[in-house]
This record gives sequence, structure tokens and C-alpha cells, in this order.
Amino acid sequence: MKILLTGGAGYIGSHTALQLLECGYEVVVADNLCNSSYESIRRVQEHTGKPIAFYEIDVADGEAMDALFKAEPIDAVFHFAGLKAVGESVQKPLEYYRNNLSTTITLLDRMYANGVRYIVYSSSATVYDAANVSPRLEDMSLGCTNPYGWTKFMGERIIQDFVTANPEMSAVLLRYFNPIGAHESGCIGEDPAGIPNNLMPYISQVAIGKLEKLHVFGNDYDTRDGTGVRDYLHVVDLAIGHIKALEFALKHTGTEVFNLGTGCGYSVLEIVDAFENTNGVKIPYVIDGRRAGDIDEYYADPSRANEVLGWKAERTLSDMCRDTWTWLQKNPNGFRE
Ligand code: NAD
Ligand code: WQD
Repeated sequence: MKILLTGGAGYIGSHTALQLLECGYEVVVADNLCNSSYESIRRVQEHTGKPIAFYEIDVADGEAMDALFKAEPIDAVFHFAGLKAVGESVQKPLEYYRNNLSTTITLLDRMYANGVRYIVYSSSATVYDAANVSPRLEDMSLGCTNPYGWTKFMGERIIQDFVTANPEMSAVLLRYFNPIGAHESGCIGEDPAGIPNNLMPYISQVAIGKLEKLHVFGNDYDTRDGTGVRDYLHVVDLAIGHIKALEFALKHTGTEVFNLGTGCGYSVLEIVDAFENTNGVKIPYVIDGRRAGDIDEYYADPSRANEVLGWKAERTLSDMCRDTWTWLQKNPNGFRE
């Protein structure tokens, strides 16, 4: 069975490509490399000893997508392609709406025209209204605070409406919580450009001495130790969740939505402690003011994915810290030489 991964050269896409190949699927990737490099694809092929058909194209380019669907008999699509930086989306809203929505619309249109009926979509826990209490359940109210979040919200809506209009289609919307970690081999991992925005990539840069100290954004939240609490899950567990979602999609029609998280929240200081204790590395930090738009805590109720998909996050926080460190030690400059 041949699976198309849009955005498959990126962080989550490359880990999913590796798992798919190891499970015997064939993989095709469409990525314009605007936030990734071909090196991730090369490494996945090297690690698995299996080929990936790679198309360096913009998923919003209908002609290029048509040519891909004509050249490759695709059975199902994992739609990872998109821009994902919250702060940047506030500065450049049109870029985010144009890229994230036009890729989704063109993809659905060209998939359907070429007879492809199954799609698994990368949504986000960010689509939940911040006023909800945790754990977050799939049927809780939605609402976003930044353009990036709205693109994920609208992406869900567009897919749902398209599937309603074409009931032979099957879509699974996956709301990821906070993916971190790397493949245990250290051959692929997260490689953000510039100074990282997210916690684990920032801790990573401090750990290898490229940044002096972590800035903890607020210690006056209503949480165990005053710092923000999130549901961190291992990126390999997330990748496996996509394969479970695909198996489900192949047997159903309509649209279904699932949280992918562990159901367990950790604070910023607990993450720092876990990284230090697992890897024996000191992470100096200072307490700064709150980051605009942050909330106290959110974590998933993953029961629906546990029960319906038969998926459960297996890897521990210590595994996430260990595998991040292995990736960093082997690749202190990420995918760059
Ligand atoms: P990433 O930036 O590493 O990967 C996204 C990939 O999409 C990149 O390789 C990029 O080059 C490609 N891309 C972007 N626009 C494209 C276009 N128009 N045409 C072709 N390729 C394009 O991000 P990631 O962390 O792997 O995230 C994957 C998906 O998961 C995204 O849709 C993101 O919104 C979603 N998501 C990520 C997180 C997270 O914390 N990483 C959480 C929730 C949801
Ligand atoms: C985690 C915690 C920060 C950096 C983001 C997106 C969300 C989703 C996942 C895509 C918070 C604190 C962080 C730092 C810190 N992405 N922090 N110092 O904000 O939960 O979610 O990524 O869909 O949409 O918003 O993740 O890793 O940025 O922050 O103290 O340098 O770490 O305040 O409590 P977040 P994060």
C-alpha cells in the first residue's frame, strides 16, 4: 500500500515515514522544503534500507499534485504540510492562511479527482477553546487565539465539509498535544531554524551549549509549581498513532477526530528536571514573565484513541529526554553539516 506524506520531510512527517516503511508500507513524500531539508529523507532511507519517492513541490500547486497522483498510485494521504510557528503567524497572518488553507483545499481537490479517498490530517490541541478545563475531550468547544490555530481549525472544517459532500471519503483528524523526542537511533529528530520557540528545542540548545540558559515563561500560574503544564508525547508514539488512524480510516467512511496525547501533564520545571536527571546535563534557567497567549495547563483525554484506534502512548518522559539527547549528541547542528 502506497501512502503520500505531504510535509513528509519535516519533524513529524519524517518519523512517520520511518515507521510506515518499517511496517511494510511504500512512502511518497511531497514537500517544498520551506522548513526542512532533504537530508531527513535521505536518513530515513538509509536507516530502513527502503526507498522514498520524493517530490520537491508545493502542495498548493494543483498541476504538480496532479502529476504526482498520475505518476504514483496513491492509496491514502497523511497531510502534514503546513507552517506551524504561532508567533510568526501573528506577524504574517496572510502567509499562514494562504499556505495552510490552499494546501488543504488543493490536496482534497486533486486527491478526489485522482480517486484517493483516505486522508489523515495533522490538527492540533490548539483548536480547543482555552477556557475548557483539562483533560481535553474531542467534543469540547473549539476556538483559537492566533492565526496558526485558526488555520488548523479551518482545515478540520474544510475536510469535514468535503467528506460530508462526498460520503465515500474517509478522514481522520488527529489533534496532537506536544510532540517531543526523536527516533531512538538518533538518525532523525527536530531541527528548528533559528532560535527555537518551543520548550524542548530550546532546552536542547542550552544542553549543547549554544544558548546560555532557558527562560521559563512565568512561575505564577495556577499549577503544581507555578510553571505551565502541557501533555508531552514522544514523536515515535505519535507516528505510530498515524498508522493506527490509517488502519481505522481504511475501514470507515466519514470524519472522525482523535486526541493524540498521553493524558499526563508535566510542568516546565518537571521537564527541566527530567532532562537533567535522564541525561546528566545541567540546564541553567531564569524565571521570566509570562509569554503572551500562554495558558496554565492543558492535557489530553486520549481514551477515544485508546479505545477506538487501539493506540496508547507507550514511551515515558525519560525516553523522550534520552532520545532528544541522543539526536543532539549525534547531530549538534541538526541536519546541517
Ligand atoms: P515541520 O515544519 O517540521 O513540517 C512541516 C513540513 O511541511 C515541512 O517539511 C515543510 O517544508 C512542509 N511544507 C510547508 N508548507 C508546504 C507547502 N506549501 N508545500 C509543501 N510542503 C510544505 O512541522 P511538524 O512539527 O512536523 O508538523 C507537521 C504538522 O503537524 C503541521 O501541519 C503542524 O501544524 C502539525 N502540528 C505540529 C505540532 C508540533 O508541535 N510540532 C503540534 C500540532 C500539530
Ligand atoms: C510549552 C511550555 C511555555 C519555551 C505550541 C503551540 C501549539 C502546538 C505545540 C502546533 C509553555 C514554556 C516554552 C521557552 C518556556 N503546536 N516555555 N520557555 O505553547 O504548549 O504549544 O507547540 O500545533 O499550537 O502553541 O508549546 O513548547 O512553546 O511551550 O518556559 O523557551 O513551555 O510557556 O508553558 P505550547 P511550547
